[in-house]
Amino acid sequence: MSTTDETDTSPAPVTGRLEAELERLLAVESFDPPAGFTRRHPVENDVAAAAADPVTFWADKARELLNWDRPFTTVLNDANPPFYKWFEDGELNLSANCLDRHVAAGRGDRVAFHWAGEEGERRVITYAGLLDETQRLANGLRSLGVGKGDVVGIFLPMIPQVAAAMLACARIGAVHNVVFGGFAPSAVRERMEVSDAKVLITVDGARRKGRTAPVKAAVDAEMGDLKSLERILVVEAVGAAGLGGERAPMTPGRDVWYEELVAAADPVCPPEPMPAEAPLFILYSSGSTAKPKGILHTTAGYLLGVTYTYRTVFDIDPATDIYWCSADVGWITGHSYIIYGPLSNGATSVMYEGAPDYPDFDAWWKLIDEYKVTVFYTAPTAIRSCMKWGAEYPDRHDLSSLRLLGSVGEPINPKAWLWYQQVIGGGRCPVVDTWWQTETGAIMISPVPGVTSTKPGSATKPLPGFSPALLTEQGQPLSEGVGVLVVTQPWPSMLRTLYKDDDRFVETYFSRFGPTTYLVGDAARLDADGYFWIIGRIDDVINVSGHRLSTAEVESAIVAHEAVAESAVVAQADEQTGQAIVAFVTLTGGRVGDDAMVAELRDHVAARIGKLARPKRIIWADDLPKTRSGKIMRRLLRDVAEGRALGDVTTLRDPAVMAALASKVAEAD
Ligand code: WT7
Repeated sequence: MSTTDETDTSPAPVTGRLEAELERLLAVESFDPPAGFTRRHPVENDVAAAAADPVTFWADKARELLNWDRPFTTVLNDANPPFYKWFEDGELNLSANCLDRHVAAGRGDRVAFHWAGEEGERRVITYAGLLDETQRLANGLRSLGVGKGDVVGIFLPMIPQVAAAMLACARIGAVHNVVFGGFAPSAVRERMEVSDAKVLITVDGARRKGRTAPVKAAVDAEMGDLKSLERILVVEAVGAAGLGGERAPMTPGRDVWYEELVAAADPVCPPEPMPAEAPLFILYSSGSTAKPKGILHTTAGYLLGVTYTYRTVFDIDPATDIYWCSADVGWITGHSYIIYGPLSNGATSVMYEGAPDYPDFDAWWKLIDEYKVTVFYTAPTAIRSCMKWGAEYPDRHDLSSLRLLGSVGEPINPKAWLWYQQVIGGGRCPVVDTWWQTETGAIMISPVPGVTSTKPGSATKPLPGFSPALLTEQGQPLSEGVGVLVVTQPWPSMLRTLYKDDDRFVETYFSRFGPTTYLVGDAARLDADGYFWIIGRIDDVINVSGHRLSTAEVESAIVAHEAVAESAVVAQADEQTGQAIVAFVTLTGGRVGDDAMVAELRDHVAARIGKLARPKRIIWADDLPKTRSGKIMRRLLRDVAEGRALGDVTTLRDPAVMAALASKVAEAD
């Protein structure tokens, strides 16, 4: 299946002139909105209305932007914080808002997705076509016993069926649980097990850079004895030819071919009116323990958040824009800004099943040229890869259709921001650095293109209706300086809880500063102009290429190897991926680590979590630095990994451990 884009090592012939221009621009602190950019959706009224009364602002937007089967009469129920409810007595169907309303308005022929496969395959999916497939699949799922509130797992690559799968669940009130295609089947199993998924929708095989992974066979090996999982629905994406001669293995009575189910199903499935607070999806994300958090989003508030922010941040005109978000649908970016935000607004998107560097380093730019993409949304790590490959690849193509560029997932370093703005955007496109999280559901801090002046590296200011703020460690409001990022008011697209774990929800997000202040988990800086600069996580979460991983999750995978006695995982700053995983490992019985063991442990982690979690560096340690109470001091390990002078080691049980480690690392370097 698709994996995170791995670093490539080909040389980068960056021209001297570009380099000099970027150096010059690095001194520019702030960029005014480009003169040629004309905004289509004005925001002045929103800014004023949201500032005056955010709850009324959201109520007005909910009426303006969404179609309701039953209008709501209450807006926010905040009687029991942090368990907020929005538009509680209203009812709507999310798939009807994403599909039926556009078709009913005569726009059924509009393209929802231009799908591109990596070997040059092309498909066009219209709104009418997607509605038809969604209805059939919804009926098909019902025939497999899926009803309201049942959980459906989705483990698919970037193929059009993934959109139909999510929308079909929403149509009948089932709850989807999408797992990123780059995760290992054992991680999929864990997520199916903890969410009690009844059905899993997967694929026979997934292609990546000319190779095919036999996904169904791998899924079978993990899922066989999972009691709750009654049925597996299989999309035949690569077929017998793709799998080297034989179709994917199917277990009679349990497994069903997607194509057969859809072809046989009744084509009419009226959308189920769903209560505003009905669960829509669970998306597992990493926290500070090894157990992933099942972040739960509900129907109307989530849809409102993504519908509003999509049009505000990307300034989309559905009739003329061609939008492309290069994320994977298995992350929140894909949920909110590949599927729900664009479809709810009736926009046309590109969906690409492939890598940026296959068959060549210009794969993305070729697509932008071919489809005349106007709005492009990607991640800093990808931009840095493209920088390294060199401007000659984008230069091969006409990128003049682009009018707006977006970034998401991690802080973007000013140099990458400028390269993006200059080389990809030709200096004429606003760059929107969008800050948000799986938990926030929708973008929360971002420039409003055409309005906000941008400072490279800053996500700038809160969007209307959202109230991020900085607090000191003690909880005092900060108007300037470095502090802890929080959100002080509830917002419609906020997570509602952690699936079946209200206690962990309260403990993780609402215990440090009380039940009405949401703790983000990031540190940030506010400058004198009120601009937010995100610094990074304050918990044990690592951000590798914009993907969230917990140190504990990687540690528990490593220590599961029979040769490992103990392990501590930390993040190290990395030019390419933002952060990289460094694992300190103590082997059992005084075994000595060698290159073969490094490779073995990396493979072991890939098999248990996924390739994205493989440590970049493994450091053999005879012992790990622990406090007297036995807690591993990761801060010190980070110092060692990043080659800093050792800080205070007096609280350690055995201070000599650090000196030994440091000299060992220095030797190896
Ligand atoms: C964490 C959330 C939001 C979709 C992708 C990641 C970091 C996200 C930015 C940004 C600086 C960012 C934060 C945040 N992050 N966007 N524009 N600038 N940092 O979603 O997996 O839930 O991760 O990603 O640390 O807390 P996620």
